[in-house]
Amino acid sequence: MKECAIKKIAVFTSGGDSPGMNAALRAVVRTAHHFNIECYGVREGYNGLINDDFTKMGPRSVKNIINQGGTILKSARSMEFKTSEGRKKAYDNLQKYGIDSLVCIGGDGTFTGAKIFSDEYPDIKVIGIPGTIDNDIFGTDNTIGYDTALNTAMDAIDKIRDTATSHNRVFFVEVMGRDAGFIALNSGIATGAVDILIPEQKDSMEDLFNNFRKSEISGKSSSIVVVAEGEELGGIYELAKSTKKEFPDFDIRVTVLGHIQRGGSPSCADRVLASRLGYGAVTGLMNGENKVMAGMRSNKLVYTPIVDAIRKHNAIDEELIAISEILAI
Ligand code: F6P
Repeated sequence: MKECAIKKIAVFTSGGDSPGMNAALRAVVRTAHHFNIECYGVREGYNGLINDDFTKMGPRSVKNIINQGGTILKSARSMEFKTSEGRKKAYDNLQKYGIDSLVCIGGDGTFTGAKIFSDEYPDIKVIGIPGTIDNDIFGTDNTIGYDTALNTAMDAIDKIRDTATSHNRVFFVEVMGRDAGFIALNSGIATGAVDILIPEQKDSMEDLFNNFRKSEISGKSSSIVVVAEGEELGGIYELAKSTKKEFPDFDIRVTVLGHIQRGGSPSCADRVLASRLGYGAVTGLMNGENKVMAGMRSNKLVYTPIVDAIRKHNAIDEELIAISEILAI
């Protein structure tokens, strides 16, 4: 290993929380301890950097959190950090503590802040760890929290299926994903949805109606349609209304799963991913990585320029869409 390029790091969680952020924090703190690097936790994301909300963290300060959802550091979407005055305050605080590196756990908003900050203050090194349930970050096969959220959505939709079947009903179920359909597509396949509406796929109302007609012909008496929050046909209530107009005999209900998908104890996959990325972030910084995001691709730790993590997108697997349509009958 080259001579260690860093002495003191600060770590924070920012943006929408996701299950496994605590496991990532634990891995960062303990890896730093292992390599004799001082580590500070910052509360409430970028707001804590601005408001001097730092706390020194040692290996015992992260005990018993690997299994906890949420983030013990708390999270926020900071408006003040979007201003150059806010970022200057953050920089001055980092200087005060002698911190030379930042580990930023979050999604694309978090990484955008990190990129702007490190362009303005290049003496502070930055590395990102992808933590968001949406799985919409380029440079990693999975983001921390996605697997847990997916399983939460699947469990909830399974329960909805029970009551849908008992009452011969049609349910529209909205899952999270403002700009991405990963949760919708995968939970829809896992729960046998008759249709899955995602922002990446331009479906028409007529496509949806045709699927209902096909499933009626095949003898289905109840159906579930999984709708990503960001679908572009007018929102879940509008979809339900238009469907009722077209099929007046349908008994239709709408369920919005909402923030239930962001909570809960992280799955095994998320805990392991978070542990690997937390370790990878600290060792990456030690080896001179800067302005990158640590990710896992094909089970290998990789570093992707933070600009690419922000600007590029993981494409939805077209084959998965085809599979969902074939199996939905
Ligand atoms: O980015 C994660 C996410 O959960 C999105 O799926 C969702 O659109 C958004 O955050 C909700 O944000 P908030 O908790 O601020 O309402």
